[in-house]
Amino acid sequence: MKHVKLGVNIDHVATLRQARKEKNPDTVEAARVVYSSGGDMVVMHLRQDRRHIQEADLERVRREVKGILHLEIAAIPEMEKLALLIHPDSVCLVPESAREVTTQGGLKLNGRNKELEKTIKNLSGAGIEVGVFCDPEPQVIRTAHNMGADSIELCTSSYSGAWGKKLQARELEKLQLAGFLVKELKLQLHAGHGLDYYNVAPVARIEGMDCLNIGFSIISRAMFVGLKTAVSEMKRLIQ
Ligand code: PXP
Repeated sequence: MKHVKLGVNIDHVATLRQARKEKNPDTVEAARVVYSSGGDMVVMHLRQDRRHIQEADLERVRREVKGILHLEIAAIPEMEKLALLIHPDSVCLVPESAREVTTQGGLKLNGRNKELEKTIKNLSGAGIEVGVFCDPEPQVIRTAHNMGADSIELCTSSYSGAWGKKLQARELEKLQLAGFLVKELKLQLHAGHGLDYYNVAPVARIEGMDCLNIGFSIISRAMFVGLKTAVSEMKRLIQ
């Protein structure tokens, strides 16, 4: 079976630290544990409200830890500038609104968007792989492809939130069909949001899946078993 990469989102290590605005728990330490426990990349979301990850977290992780860094940002000039400065290996462009508790679905793309296209071009031009967070909808995926995205991250929140086997199977099928299209367009296939130890396996088995990005469930489990165990357990599940 194909090796599915695990991106571990460490935002909520910073959420805990920001509760006291202290130095600990330290995102650099978390990133080191992720890489040494089988995580393939560290994922960080720099939100406009800076509720968890700060610029300093990104700078330090990039400078002090060897490994693949994946950054999630809103497609706005401020974030583009920061991404070009920090130069992660890859970026995923996500929608962001001030009141949301977490990212609410993929980018809403009704046809090509000049601003977004420019952001993709600028980041790509700097050698950063650019992904777009998309709901599993063919029209959105085709638009992201036409705008120059290198990868599509399929939003799995409808699947994760689906209640009962029937609904979950229907949402899984949407992800499988969307994944098929992503591969047909010769793009990298990523998925994430709301994935946990109970629902991850069918998504990991989607044909052509390259990478899963998972945060909340891993950091939550780490509270009880430690980050090393939480990451390696998840890694085992997606193999
Ligand atoms: N992928 C994207 C684009 C996200 O915005 C997030 C949340 O930051 C995740 C994956 C991870 O989601 P979760 O924390 O629910 O695993």
